[in-house]
Amino acid sequence: MKSLITGGAGFIGSHLTERLLDAGDEVTLMDNLSTGRRGNIKQFLKHPRCKFIDGSVDNVTLMEILIADCDRIFHLAAAVGVDMIVKRPVHTIETNIHGSQVVLDAAARHNKKIFIASTSEVYGKSTKIPFCEDDDVVYGNTTLSRWSYAASKAIDEYLALAYHRQTDLPAVVGRFFNTVGPRQTGTYGMVVPRFVQSALRNEPIQVYGDGKQTRCFGDVHDVVGAVIKLMEEPRAAGQVFNIGAETPISIEDLAKRIIELTKSTSTLEYIPYSKAYAPGFEDLRDRKPSLDKIQSIIGYKPTMTLDQTLGRVIDYMRQQMTQDESSH
Ligand SMILES: NC(=O)c1ccc[n+]([C@@H]2O[C@H](COP(=O)([O-])OP(=O)(O)OC[C@H]3O[C@@H](n4cnc5c(N)ncnc54)[C@H](O)[C@@H]3O)[C@@H](O)[C@H]2O)c1
Repeated sequence: MKSLITGGAGFIGSHLTERLLDAGDEVTLMDNLSTGRRGNIKQFLKHPRCKFIDGSVDNVTLMEILIADCDRIFHLAAAVGVDMIVKRPVHTIETNIHGSQVVLDAAARHNKKIFIASTSEVYGKSTKIPFCEDDDVVYGNTTLSRWSYAASKAIDEYLALAYHRQTDLPAVVGRFFNTVGPRQTGTYGMVVPRFVQSALRNEPIQVYGDGKQTRCFGDVHDVVGAVIKLMEEPRAAGQVFNIGAETPISIEDLAKRIIELTKSTSTLEYIPYSKAYAPGFEDLRDRKPSLDKIQSIIGYKPTMTLDQTLGRVIDYMRQQMTQDESSH
């Protein structure tokens, strides 16, 4: 199989690369290195079946060439996260909608199977727990730019499903819930690497809001395994699947657990959402996926416990910090 991964130098893309190379695929990674890093993929670039293209998904000519030349596409490139949407709203909306449109259009013309990386943010501020794929979505009003990340990803989903309906494009949509593991960076606000970094430095851990909000953290190892299986399951085409883990933890307890595991002297510092993001910022209290649908189609069940995942992240970040210190 020749696999193309857009956003291949990113956190999830780099893990997917590793798994596809192990499975014997030829892998082309393309990325504009905006939030992704060469360091994430440098070990794979030595592999004879791996190549890297530095470019953007909105480059129509480039995407036409890359998509014509592959057997299947994993579309992961996106402007990612709530931090990014608050700071760079135009960039986020344009990247997520226009980029996906270019990729889907070329995929449809060449009839190549495609995975679209969506997000649990698509559910918006729904309070119906757990979130099921066919639930209604609930967004705040359009003056709150926070919801435009969710809306832009929802448009990607509509477009992928429309191509499937209209042109039979084998498109599979995966809604990732909080995904964590080595190589994720805290630079763009992702909670686990941000907490681990503060704990390893014995600095205060900044918890946004009252810390009672709950999330379920899925290990990237389980998540990329699910993505590959979905792409290999013909019945998945034209459908949407939650991908993540089902065990909730409050953000406050997450911070405390990271302090224990790192034996840190860090304390918790509570920051109001209005200060962390923007005035009027709305967060959701609980976010938990139903995994019934993905379980019934590919037998998916997370294999990693939260402690195992946190251990992997802590080891990775310790290593990174040692490398950074020795290079200075
Ligand atoms: N990590 C999570 O918890 C999570 C949760 C929900 C959804 N997702 C989705 O999963 C996908 C991967 O996210 P990630 O966590 O690996 O984040 P990431 O930022 O590490 O990966 C995104 C990659 O896309 C690249 N990119 C951005 N704009 C591009 C463009 N115009 N052209 C080419 N490349 C571009 C970035 O440089 C980066 O390498 C994204 O679509 C994201 O929305 C992730």
